[in-house]
Amino acid sequence: MSKVLSAVAWPYANGPRHIGHIAGFGVPSDVFSRYMRMAGHDVLMVSGTDEHGTPILVAADKAGVSAKQLADESNRVIVQDLASLGLSYDLFTRTTTRNHYAVVQEMFTTVHANGYMVEQTTQGAISPSTGRTLPDRYIEGICPICGYAEARGDQCDHCGNQLDATELIKPRSKINGETPQFIETQHFFLDLPALAEALGEWLDAREASGTWRPNVIRFSQNILKDIRPRAMTRDIDWGIPIPLDGWRDDPAKRLYVWFDAVIGYLSASIEWARRTGDPQAWRQWWNNPEALSYYFMGKDNITFHSQIWPAELLAYDGLGDKGGEPGPYGALQLPTEVVSSEFLTMEGKQFSSSRGVVIYVRDVLQRYQPDALRYFISAAGPENQDSDFTWAEFVRRTNGELVAGWGNLVNRTATMIHRGFGQIPAAAKLTAEDLALLASVNEGFDTIGALIERHRQKQALSEAMRVVAEVNKYVTDQAPFKLKADDERERLGTILHVIAQAVSDCTTMLCPFLPHSCNQVHATMGGLGEIAPMPRIEEVDDLDGGESYPIITGDYTATPSWERHAITAGTPISKPSPIFTKLDPSVVDEELARLNPEATSA
Ligand code: MF3
Ligand code: ZN
Repeated sequence: MSKVLSAVAWPYANGPRHIGHIAGFGVPSDVFSRYMRMAGHDVLMVSGTDEHGTPILVAADKAGVSAKQLADESNRVIVQDLASLGLSYDLFTRTTTRNHYAVVQEMFTTVHANGYMVEQTTQGAISPSTGRTLPDRYIEGICPICGYAEARGDQCDHCGNQLDATELIKPRSKINGETPQFIETQHFFLDLPALAEALGEWLDAREASGTWRPNVIRFSQNILKDIRPRAMTRDIDWGIPIPLDGWRDDPAKRLYVWFDAVIGYLSASIEWARRTGDPQAWRQWWNNPEALSYYFMGKDNITFHSQIWPAELLAYDGLGDKGGEPGPYGALQLPTEVVSSEFLTMEGKQFSSSRGVVIYVRDVLQRYQPDALRYFISAAGPENQDSDFTWAEFVRRTNGELVAGWGNLVNRTATMIHRGFGQIPAAAKLTAEDLALLASVNEGFDTIGALIERHRQKQALSEAMRVVAEVNKYVTDQAPFKLKADDERERLGTILHVIAQAVSDCTTMLCPFLPHSCNQVHATMGGLGEIAPMPRIEEVDDLDGGESYPIITGDYTATPSWERHAITAGTPISKPSPIFTKLDPSVVDEELARLNPEATSA
């Protein structure tokens, strides 16, 4: 049994999330966390909304509201969506809590005291027409490294290198096309070169563990070659103040959003501990060298989790070239694994809210079952390569696999038991076929568990569905529906008992993927309570006197163990209702018509 931190990327609170987002960080982290709990580990799953920085400022400007208003509204929508999907966070909070501010400022203070936060005069961009500062990501130009024409002032999406806006060739403002003007400004830089050796050693050890996805470790090793100091402060007024005299009260200087957001993993763990009444409990995940930590995200976040965040931790711990001592939080553990997925496209196009190539989580959940979406993402999501969401494929998978495969097995099992016995019959002597099926199903626990543990969720789910198919084949072969004579009743009962056990096993194995419907199946098969505990939304007071806000939390202690649970003969079974809703093929055209025409024209 290990302490396992599930650190889930923090969605920006600049609007509702689309299914591309939850395919990247949401569903995979929940499948993993649910499984690890079932496997007996002590999981702490944390995240929240990422509410600072230019993405929020720019969206707020566009919407004509303040950054705070936009963040408040988006936070509530996102909390609703993620809870409705059944994502089992121990704590989903936000970066505007007072606790988060305090933890971020403490990190900055110690990193600074250890000598890794260096003040420098740099060139900052302003818009000549408005006089306002122009954030790096709103400057575009030619990448000085690879020549890509649409590199941003913070990074080049083509070669993946981190950039400074001043390095761009022919820089222009994304807002109005004008050439930015550069003026002198003071900023704090994280001294990444002084941490490069320690980062390299950590990455080498991670590579040697052989568990990271090859593209993630390769990318991370690669960006280490061109490591430079990076500014951790910005000339903006929305964000966390810099906790140093002369800076603290400057209304126009704030910490960089990524410096603060990644610290959310720690601050949310601390907030969780404070809320449970054992304020030091977070240390078992953060100060414990035996604890494991897994970070879930889309691939555009890799740099921040395999370089910036570990660098902040090493600097805090005093483990770079400049030495130093850990601050009051003690020596903090670096990530065990950065689990990044690739991108999801939609009907062959990149998601784009502004171009209407988008499908919001909320809209899907209004019209379809959450597990239909979870199933699609787990079965066909961008785990190791980019993948495409199409409505045709969504309908095909829902009807062909969920309804016809798994749903049908549950439905006919419950129906036959209900009609024939009214309760789960006892088994008499088991035949070789019965024993073979039970043994083969039971093997699923090992195979599927090992695959989920190695973040091969696609393969794990297809293995689970293969087991379901095997049970369906057993039903067809044994043909219990043909056993009508009195002297066949004992054999009928035995077969139905075996099938009921197999269905129970499949339910357990599918729990991490399909928690909502597994609860329904569990109830259909006469089970009590929930086999997949669900998160809940709670409105809470800020622990340090700020405004109240909604959190996602839950009590997941009732999670069953990852193994066969013997069913009980005599359990009453009533007439079942279908678990999954079959989708009419007209759904495809309806949904395509909802998209912006640009999204569907080739
Ligand atoms: N808000 C970022 C995004 O949506 C992710 C932040 S992840 C964390 O791309 F590291 F800040 F937690
Ligand atoms: Zn480039």
